[in-house]
Amino acid sequence: MTRKNHKLRHASTSTSELDKARASGKKISIPSLKLVVLKPIGYPLRSIGDERPISITTDNIKLFEAYAKEQWSGFYVKEGDFLFDQFMYPDFAFEVVKVSPRGGGRISNKTEIRLKVDTLSPVVREIPKVKFSDVIGHEKAKNKCKIIQKYLKYPEKFGEWAPKNILFYGPPGTGKTMMAKALASETNVPIFLTRATDLIGLHVGDGARRVHQLFGEARESAPCIIFIDELDAIGLDRRYQSIRGDVSEIVNALLSEMDGLNPNLGIVTIGATNAPELLDPAIRNRFEEEIEFPLPTKEERFEILKLYAKRLPLPVKVNLWKIAEETEGFSGRDLREKILKNALHMAILKNRRIIDEKILREVLTFARKQLKMDGWTGMFL
Ligand SMILES: Nc1ncnc2c1ncn2[C@@H]1O[C@H](COP(=O)(O)OP(=O)(O)O)[C@@H](O)[C@H]1O
Ligand SMILES: [Mg+2]
Repeated sequence: MTRKNHKLRHASTSTSELDKARASGKKISIPSLKLVVLKPIGYPLRSIGDERPISITTDNIKLFEAYAKEQWSGFYVKEGDFLFDQFMYPDFAFEVVKVSPRGGGRISNKTEIRLKVDTLSPVVREIPKVKFSDVIGHEKAKNKCKIIQKYLKYPEKFGEWAPKNILFYGPPGTGKTMMAKALASETNVPIFLTRATDLIGLHVGDGARRVHQLFGEARESAPCIIFIDELDAIGLDRRYQSIRGDVSEIVNALLSEMDGLNPNLGIVTIGATNAPELLDPAIRNRFEEEIEFPLPTKEERFEILKLYAKRLPLPVKVNLWKIAEETEGFSGRDLREKILKNALHMAILKNRRIIDEKILREVLTFARKQLKMDGWTGMFL
């Protein structure tokens, strides 16, 4: 509450136009602001396990406006200044992101005050409908997921020995995301799906804040799963981090959150990457287990083709075993998207009632050429 006594001073700590004008002894007129837009940005300091809110919003903007005026009327602000809450969440900071007139001025009773809430959430929270049995192969990952499932259901059985951070690695399209979704679905818990690249914000500080927000929301939804895809984008080896600007702050935020998770809470973090060797060793060490998602074997390709062929709206009259033999190097996603989906589209285009060998061959030849052009050469291509 101490800041209340500073009411007639400006909000920022830097020397303001107002101070300069005062010092020069000139007569000053401070404009009253027409508009102030505030963005809630968090606390200047936070300890791990801090229970204070990560983000703040309002139920009613008029109420917020009255509340804001009550404490900040008379403050001199300009764009980029910070205002600290004094009542409900002492020291929670709001950034002044816009003022009118542009040069700044005094908050008065007539000032319109708006709250800018970050709607661009990097996180998708969902309970998907995918089963373990939909995922072909990856038995080791499935076994691990079944342990995690037990933990999410009965965290008390595990105590301090809880599984916490797992790394899925392997080529794109091999089912890493799908497996994490199946785990959430079979356990009936929410999964927070995010990509490391989405955590990087526009401004310095955004990324770390998003990481804290993500874990904060997860704590409120526990038991749950946090899935961070493309981890190498931020978990880069420190040798490469300088190229990526403020990623190190995100790495640090992530490390502190991963370490700070209370094992009894029922939150499991799954990271995914195609390039585990690029990861910062500090991040990589936080994962108690690394599970490989290899490209499917011939038998698995056959199973994947069968699984999705059954779901196509047109019957597939093709020897799928032969297709499996000829698709070494294809991922599950390639088989589904580049082979089966394209075959269906071609059949529809040609007004066919079935997907026959000829159509599939054509699509296969095209897909193999495409894979080659992408700079990828499988053994048999
Ligand atoms: N092993 C698999 N079994 C069944 N479907 C798979 C498998 N691997 C990939 N797929 C299909 O490919 C899609 C993309 O896989 P995804 O989980 O996003 O791969 P990753 O996360 O490893 O890049 C899945 O939604 C699924 O339709
Ligand atoms: Mg994926």
